[in-house]
Amino acid sequence: MSLLTSDGAVRADAPAPPQDCSAVDRLLSEFLADKEQASVGPEIAMFVRLLGTFLSGGKRLRPLLCYYGWQAAGGHGSTIAVTHLGAALELFHAGALIHDDVMDGSDIRRGRPTVHRLLAGSHGRHPAAERLGVNTAILLGDLALCWSYDLLHVAELATPRAESLRTLLDAMRMQAMTGQYLDLLATGSSHIAVEEALAIGRGKTARYTVEYPLLAGAHLAGADQGMLSACSAYGVPLGEAFQLRDDLLGVFGDPGTTGKSDLDDLRDGKHTVLLAVARQRADSVQAAALRALIGNAHLDLADAQDIRDIIVATGARDAVEDMIAERREHALAVLDSFPFPAGAAASLRRLADMATRRDR
Ligand code: IPE
Ligand code: IPE
Ligand code: MG
Repeated sequence: MSLLTSDGAVRADAPAPPQDCSAVDRLLSEFLADKEQASVGPEIAMFVRLLGTFLSGGKRLRPLLCYYGWQAAGGHGSTIAVTHLGAALELFHAGALIHDDVMDGSDIRRGRPTVHRLLAGSHGRHPAAERLGVNTAILLGDLALCWSYDLLHVAELATPRAESLRTLLDAMRMQAMTGQYLDLLATGSSHIAVEEALAIGRGKTARYTVEYPLLAGAHLAGADQGMLSACSAYGVPLGEAFQLRDDLLGVFGDPGTTGKSDLDDLRDGKHTVLLAVARQRADSVQAAALRALIGNAHLDLADAQDIRDIIVATGARDAVEDMIAERREHALAVLDSFPFPAGAAASLRRLADMATRRDR
């Protein structure tokens, strides 16, 4: 079914509002199936299939938040535009993750080999298989980022506020990319304060994961300044709490459940808030052990367990749990103090739990 009328407008008939992300998933499959038909040569089918596989298994937090923002600001009727906006955010996220895995040298994501590892494996006989894998993954990430604009364009057609929506999403992308840069700069450097680690997490992850998707959906529904400010007041602390949970899962999570490694952050010497708090609280013996172990690319399971023991002994694990709880409470308090529609408030309340009490 075409999502546009013959004169290029967004269709007015509304599919049922999503309780989950099935509308976004359906749209992404249809979108990729269309791309596979493009007359650019047979290789595109390989890119489409890879991206389709990569897209399965994500939690779809960003499309959900986008939908709740739209609902909170009184969005009703056709859900075509908000579904396109949510799918565009998911594709942006996919591109950012594919590139992030290259930059972080990660081997698993969403319970499968990362795109560059998968490609390197499939070119096992090629003399430069590793490099080919990395470079092809960069191209696939580029395609995902470009294609997110196609979907965004459909959402823009449905709103008189296309210009300000574009500005908002441009800020989101700049924020995420510069945040990633700060993350790269900090990784491996000798000392980063807790506040600095929090700022990096806010920049690279928190805002594009929670605040901006919520704002984008609200914007699409014509939210006023009061609603937009309330979305940010909920979104910023919840985004930080999401990232802090990610820090904990990156060290204490079960890779079988998270679908990601529990060694990467330690081997890379990532300056997460968790590790910054542990360093800050460590006595001299613990500090020396952390210095010797964190950032060692060949760190083994026993070394990783030693680091976990120190993180627990310093109280850093509990401290980060407290930081998460405090931020979740701040986000929930906004739902009590601002008159969100009841349905949207209930969804945002559930989402606060999902983002912060998750095990994947
Ligand atoms: C993971 O994001 C990467 C970060 C931004 C920390 P998600 O936890 O939302 O990942 P998926 O989409 O569910 O795989
Ligand atoms: C990912 O950050 C952030 C972006 C993709 C912008 P991380 O490197 O901390 O997240 P994971 O642990 O790989 O998912
Ligand atoms: Mg990473």
